[in-house]
Amino acid sequence: MEIKNDNIYLGDTRNLIKELADESVDLVVSDVPYLCVSGGDAKGIWRDKMCGGMLAKHGRDNRESDYDNVKKGKLFDHNDIKFSEWMSEVWRVLKMDSHCYIMVNGRNLKDLWEEAERSGFMYQQLLVWDKGNATPNRYYMNGCEFILMLRKGMATNVNDMGMSNLLSVPNVVANKLHPTGKPVELMEILIRQSSDPDDVVLDPFAGSGSTLLAAKRLCRHYIGFEIDQKYYDIAAKRLTEKTEVSLFDNF
Ligand SMILES: C[S@@+](CC[C@H](N)C(=O)[O-])C[C@H]1O[C@@H](n2cnc3c(N)ncnc32)[C@H](O)[C@@H]1O
Repeated sequence: MEIKNDNIYLGDTRNLIKELADESVDLVVSDVPYLCVSGGDAKGIWRDKMCGGMLAKHGRDNRESDYDNVKKGKLFDHNDIKFSEWMSEVWRVLKMDSHCYIMVNGRNLKDLWEEAERSGFMYQQLLVWDKGNATPNRYYMNGCEFILMLRKGMATNVNDMGMSNLLSVPNVVANKLHPTGKPVELMEILIRQSSDPDDVVLDPFAGSGSTLLAAKRLCRHYIGFEIDQKYYDIAAKRLTEKTEVSLFDNF
């Protein structure tokens, strides 16, 4: 199958990415799947809090099953793929002297980082996304996530070198299109920093398409892969709707 720019493809990244030529994309930005383990068994009020916030979908009667899902780390169906199953392919398709941003929580950061270096990437920076909201946790509320910034080849500057590595962008809390959906504005910052108009941005785990939409708004080309029909449909719809070009002056 020929993979064309400005499309999202339904299928498994492990197969689809093989269709991309070596060094054919300018930037990778992805919020990748991994198990979200809570870090211990919870009781009483904590059990209630963990399942009564953003994870509660069906009201109080279903808190037990929500809790079981949280314990299994299953915020969505397809999140048990290992970093080692895709990382070296991401490295292969990225052009030399380019950047790659991967979103991850604290628990999985070490594994992700080690796998990235095993695949040939070099560490560039660790960004912190201040979400503006926090989810309950017995060991401090979770108010941030991490974005591991990697490079392939030589180090190159970001476009705005005056920007802090602490990114404060409000999380999407109402009408979420995906259980872990990310704000388009956050993805825009990463894309604007490490690419130029007409560059090709790849998101191998596109979900509801936030990265791809950000790329489109910034006049970049995009390629996305998503295995789940439900999120593929949402992303495809978002990408065909009329898109306002981003108001950011500095492309
Ligand atoms: C963390 S979510 C991405 C959410 C996205 N950032 C958004 O804003 O909607 C990761 C996505 O990867 C998808 N996924 C998991 N395994 C996959 C695979 N092998 N191939 C393609 N997509 C996969 C999941 O279905 C999920 O939608």
